[in-house]
Amino acid sequence: MLQTSDPRNKNIKVYVNDGLYPRDEAKVSVFDSSVQGGDAVWEGLRVYPEGIVCLDKHLTRLHESAKTLAFTDIPSKAEIKKAIQMTLDANGMDNETHIRLTLTRGEKITSGMDPRLNQSGSCLIVLAEWKPLVYDNNSGIKVLSTSQRRNAPQYLDSKIHHNNLLNNIIAKIQANVAGKDAGLMLDDRSFVAELNGSNLFMVKNGKIYTPYAHACLPGITRSTVIELCKKSNIEIHEQDITLSQLYNADGVFATGTMGELTPVVEIDGREIPKGDSLQRKMLQLFSRNIRSYCETLA
Ligand SMILES: Cc1ncc(COP(=O)(O)O)c(C=O)c1O
Repeated sequence: MLQTSDPRNKNIKVYVNDGLYPRDEAKVSVFDSSVQGGDAVWEGLRVYPEGIVCLDKHLTRLHESAKTLAFTDIPSKAEIKKAIQMTLDANGMDNETHIRLTLTRGEKITSGMDPRLNQSGSCLIVLAEWKPLVYDNNSGIKVLSTSQRRNAPQYLDSKIHHNNLLNNIIAKIQANVAGKDAGLMLDDRSFVAELNGSNLFMVKNGKIYTPYAHACLPGITRSTVIELCKKSNIEIHEQDITLSQLYNADGVFATGTMGELTPVVEIDGREIPKGDSLQRKMLQLFSRNIRSYCETLA
């Protein structure tokens, strides 16, 4: 699945650091930490007319990632919300919109890794684009397990939502080369971690399972699915899952803000059923409830 450019995004305005700029003029310096070392944190947000899905959880994760990386001058939630509101208003967006919210460590006085070279505070970017759900959630996606491992905490804690995405990008390249939609990443023990850009769930014998968040992003859509299961008395467990268990599941689905809930219909050439009644129930439960998770910016 290759995303295409939406003509509605041709003339969008983007918030960078201190205000809004037309798309072609929205830039960071070559001295910015994101250019120099991928030294930035980010969130993907989805906008519905009712508001932004789980906004507070996303802003908390952005703040926690920035604190772990010892950023200074981190904008408050109120300041970030104001920048988001300005951006959405400027673009007339209130639906079918995805926001890439990035906070970089900011500009350096000279090139180098040392964060002490960052003397002008962090830099906030609000990139809002017209972007409906990226996958076809009826036909589902095909995935390939890749050789690239997802980080466990001894390397780089996957709980930090940072811009050092190269291991996930390498996994995606492996999937692309094989003509599949996403790369499945294992952890350092060879248990399933997640797809290169979304979390994984498995349905088996009337129960739902998802890997522990040891070596995957603790996704916010993942936590919504877990919460919905608990509220609806659907048995859900976090546990170590092997590839063999996934191949033999009654259903597998991926979760993320970009695509919401997407059936996985093939893993390494093995067909995965997508008609399981519990999986269908879960997908319906999610789409019926997701707008109740929207929060307004006011
Ligand atoms: C590696 C990875 N896994 C999972 C997700 C899904 O997370 P969320 O549900 O918070 O969008 C993302 C989204 O950014 C991601 O980058």
